[in-house]
Amino acid sequence: MMQERSEFSSKIGFVLAAAGSAVGLGNIWRFPYLAAKYGGGLFVLIYIFFITTFGYAIMTSEIAIGRKTRLSPIGAYAALDKRFKFIGVIAVLVAALIVPYYSVIGGWIIKYLVTFASGGHLAAAKDDFFVGFITSPLEPVLWQIVFVLLAAFVVFKGIKDGIEKVNKVLMPVLIALSLGIGIYAMTLPGALDGLKYYLIPDFSRFSMEGVLAAMGQMFYSLSLAMGIMITYGSYLSRKDDIKKSVKQIEVFDSGVAMLAGFMIVPAVFAFSGGSAEALSAGPGLMFITLPKVFGSMALSSLVGSAFFLMVLFAAITSGISLMEVVVSTLCDKYRISRNKSVAVTTIFTILMGVPSSLGNGIWSHITIFDLAILDFFDFVTNAVLMPVGALFMCIFIGYILKTDEIAEEANESSTIQTKRFYTVMVRYVAPVFIIAVLLSSVLATFG
Ligand code: PHE
Repeated sequence: MMQERSEFSSKIGFVLAAAGSAVGLGNIWRFPYLAAKYGGGLFVLIYIFFITTFGYAIMTSEIAIGRKTRLSPIGAYAALDKRFKFIGVIAVLVAALIVPYYSVIGGWIIKYLVTFASGGHLAAAKDDFFVGFITSPLEPVLWQIVFVLLAAFVVFKGIKDGIEKVNKVLMPVLIALSLGIGIYAMTLPGALDGLKYYLIPDFSRFSMEGVLAAMGQMFYSLSLAMGIMITYGSYLSRKDDIKKSVKQIEVFDSGVAMLAGFMIVPAVFAFSGGSAEALSAGPGLMFITLPKVFGSMALSSLVGSAFFLMVLFAAITSGISLMEVVVSTLCDKYRISRNKSVAVTTIFTILMGVPSSLGNGIWSHITIFDLAILDFFDFVTNAVLMPVGALFMCIFIGYILKTDEIAEEANESSTIQTKRFYTVMVRYVAPVFIIAVLLSSVLATFG
């Protein structure tokens, strides 16, 4: 029959690889911002509620689907029920469309790391540094290619010798760097006010919008509905406990998100004289505000370099996981070697990323639905395809598979209560919320 599938050599290897995928830009540039915007600790509580309920159920299901079928997403769904193969197709499509533009941003991170490490903190803190850089036609593309090649090399080395090894080193270092920067940020004058703003729940700022934002953030941050957990799950040994692994992955992912807030919120507060206004999300925060904040610090080159190194680790381990989805799908479906599959994926990723990069500069006149090219891909994948895929996945698991098979694989049926809880989450709670997220994100863009 089939050749033997590679496996992670240990449970911790799997957990760190999955955590490496989960910890990414979402943790660093979105979570702290969302928390500060939607009521501080209140948002954190809502977020924790989501990840421990259906975030937990969905991640468990994905890993179980992968391990049960030992296949990449398309084959995995097809093996369970031919009619639902399309869910796998959506997942792989999402991954294939995200890697290119994710790599563009990965390239920016390398550029900033190199700039800070070579003593360029003053240049990086200048107003037009970022825009000047991303609008130039060639340089961002070159850094994007560097990012893709780094990720591709790890994927090329395989599961044990590439993905597992790299994550085992990078993830602990990432934690150490985050702790170091977080502690340093806390010593800045005015940091305490920022911390209060970040952590104390403000129930008066409760809103449905905040609830949906928490939900969307959960999907993105846990790398759900992109085939990643199915793919990584397909390399998980049958001996290992899925439930425990999921708990550890979630603790890791939310831990880094919280730590990112400890690094960013107090620093931005201290820098801006106690106002929350300066705290934005996305590229503006990471590439414009933070370099200014670092530039004003005593140890700016060191702190800036440490920060961008940590962000690079977060982004590259996510990029690797996305690439692995595409690579393993090509291997499984077309029965081509891993080397060929990595080569094809690398070329595709680089070529597809170029328009996203140029869309910030010489191609900025090209827009799709009024969105720049990079933003368009981000919108289609995150705001549309991902929730659609997630919705079908819940319907499939909850109603077609009747959850039994998957719950069994995940060891979720051990007690009556956990099984009932799991079923209710996947069947009723998750679909309703996913539809709400889908509507709200589409309305937010076109409304
Ligand atoms: N989970 C990652 C984060 O929080 C994002 C990601 C998206 C990872 C897509 C892989 C794929 O940033």
